[in-house]
Amino acid sequence: MPKLFHLRCSPRAASASSAGADAFLAQFRQTRPSWDIDLQDLWRETLPEFDGAALEAKYTRLGGRSFSDSERDAFAVVERMAMRFALADRVLISSPMWNFGVPYKLKQWFDLIVQPGLTFTFSPAEGYRGLVKDRPTIVILASGSDFVTGMSRGRVDMATPYLRDILRFVGVHSVRFVAIGPTAGAGDQVKAARGTAERRLIELARTF
Ligand SMILES: Cc1cc2nc3c(=O)[nH]c(=O)nc-3n(C[C@H](O)[C@H](O)[C@H](O)COP(=O)(O)O)c2cc1C
Repeated sequence: MPKLFHLRCSPRAASASSAGADAFLAQFRQTRPSWDIDLQDLWRETLPEFDGAALEAKYTRLGGRSFSDSERDAFAVVERMAMRFALADRVLISSPMWNFGVPYKLKQWFDLIVQPGLTFTFSPAEGYRGLVKDRPTIVILASGSDFVTGMSRGRVDMATPYLRDILRFVGVHSVRFVAIGPTAGAGDQVKAARGTAERRLIELARTF
């Protein structure tokens, strides 16, 4: 069964990014009723720490050495996480902007799954190459500021370039970003921003 992998990154019940994802998925389910939707909620599933044997396994691989038993076990956990993403036919990431970037749980998820020989490879001749097959991906990014019309009052968005680059690094190039913002401030602007983004997401879901 083809699969859409949804990485949900907001802990809020009243989350704008999750509401955008729900609007998208309601349409997606109508367009592709036979698809499996695999939800990974980063605030409901406990992510392993990236330290100890898991961290050492990365250096062991980078150095071309073989794993110890504890490194092999730790790497197997990371591998299962990465496969959940890598084997999906479509990917949806819905996330808040936090302190100009992404929430730490999303950064932790990338720190776990970006691994040599698993999601990227390096050779002196070729440089870095992503190992994840490219597939249509949508990133919904909700922010208090307005990055849609550029009225962000001088604040920067480092979440979009970070996500674009890290996804590209592992091989996923076909990424569309849908910004939702402002989500704070005057009620009519917030409502309009949410409405515009959700209409766009429903439109995208018809052909995703
Ligand atoms: C810890 C934290 C940091 C935030 N940092 C920013 C920021 O740097 N820029 C911004 O525009 N909004 C920022 N916000 C506002 C959120 O982006 C906004 O509330 C957004 O709607 C959150 O997404 P969500 O509704 O899906 O949870 C921050 C909110 C929190 C809780």
